[in-house]
Amino acid sequence: MENNGRGTWGSRIGFILAAAGSAIGLGNIWRYPYVTGQNGGAAFVLLYLACVLVIALPILLAELSLGRHTTLNPVGAFKKLTKSKVWPLVGYLGVVTGAGILSFYLVVAGWTLGFIVRTIIPSTESFTAFVSNPWEELGYFTAFLLLTVYVVLGGVERGIERWSKLLMPALAAILFLLIIYNLTLDGAMKGVEFYLNPDFSKIHGSTFLAALGQAFFSLSLGMGTMITYGSYISKKENIPFSATAVALSDTLIAFLAGLMIFPALFAVGVEPTQGPSLVFEVLPRVFSTMPGGTLLGVLFFILLAIAALTSTVSLLEVPVAFLVDEKQWTRKKSVLVVSALVFVLGVPSALSQGYVPALGELNIFGQQDFLSLMSFLFSDLSLPLGGMFICIFVAWVWGSRNALEEIKMGTTERTISLLGIWEFLIRYVCPVVIAIILLNVFGVF
Ligand code: PHE
Repeated sequence: MENNGRGTWGSRIGFILAAAGSAIGLGNIWRYPYVTGQNGGAAFVLLYLACVLVIALPILLAELSLGRHTTLNPVGAFKKLTKSKVWPLVGYLGVVTGAGILSFYLVVAGWTLGFIVRTIIPSTESFTAFVSNPWEELGYFTAFLLLTVYVVLGGVERGIERWSKLLMPALAAILFLLIIYNLTLDGAMKGVEFYLNPDFSKIHGSTFLAALGQAFFSLSLGMGTMITYGSYISKKENIPFSATAVALSDTLIAFLAGLMIFPALFAVGVEPTQGPSLVFEVLPRVFSTMPGGTLLGVLFFILLAIAALTSTVSLLEVPVAFLVDEKQWTRKKSVLVVSALVFVLGVPSALSQGYVPALGELNIFGQQDFLSLMSFLFSDLSLPLGGMFICIFVAWVWGSRNALEEIKMGTTERTISLLGIWEFLIRYVCPVVIAIILLNVFGVF
């Protein structure tokens, strides 16, 4: 073992699968379509792709190299490279963000479990009734939390990784089938038009933040997940290659999810601006009319639940790795304490979808329900903020030259020639663009 006995991923593909497993999840299939819908469609998609390429991918490299270099959790990584007491705060922000995201993510992950059941035993209960039912909401939320705890404590992550090799391509295959079917529905072309024909008048200041936040969320960036995962990779690993593979597969799945949802949406008559319920309103209607739809539906929700599980595991891993490394807690104690906290934090999100009306009419930062508010605070604000500081730290405090030394280990000559672009992006473009987008939301300009 080359890094303080913490262990490394078994193989390159093992690491890529774990990182892709963290990245691919509800962010691609649940969040991406509804955020795209709320932000006007195709023009947003272009902005999103630009954010992935110009900002997220460079930061993914930065996080992975920081992790591999220090072989530590986010807080420890900052402590190791600077004496300043301020920089580790970025790591702490990541730890808190991990718990914050997990709290609402588990509620939606719970919905996927509910939909496995609802597809097998056809239910007349509407989506609105389903999410307003406190027993179903809390029950599935708790079940998913326990599932995550079981995986993290039971050390079966490696097993899941191996499964992902089969499951993620299977998810892509089902998406393809659904795309083909949905394109044959009446009104499908209106959806394709909405999704692929950009109308730039739909871009506002808030659209930029939505695209940026979604890019961070989808690639698990800005809170140290990839620092933590990077801390387990070996020096032989080609970081630029792996990072590109992860970003490509994540973006492809999201793009396909959009192509599947929008044609169906116009066919079944759901508004694109629907919000978090979008995919869960549209898909069951598609499955119910499709030949073999029940079987495909069950399979789809099972795969989605597993994709979500590989993400919740990585979210839980950040606060846990922090407590184990920095506070010398046992893994078991860390997992149990963090889960208890996440449970308490998640209850209001679970009950904000109808059961407690007050939690659904907040109107804070333009967000109506508690779940959307949490998603906005932690995904749209906290992740880009953390990402900006990670950029500045890697580029200017640790130093982009030192980071490059780390990145170059394990790469080929061809990749090295591209790294000049990375250095330019991480030093100037990423921090400045993120700062402008964040300041703009607070009305500075
Ligand atoms: N990337 C995950 C998804 O798209 C969510 C996530 C965010 C996981 C941040 C880890 C850290 O579902």
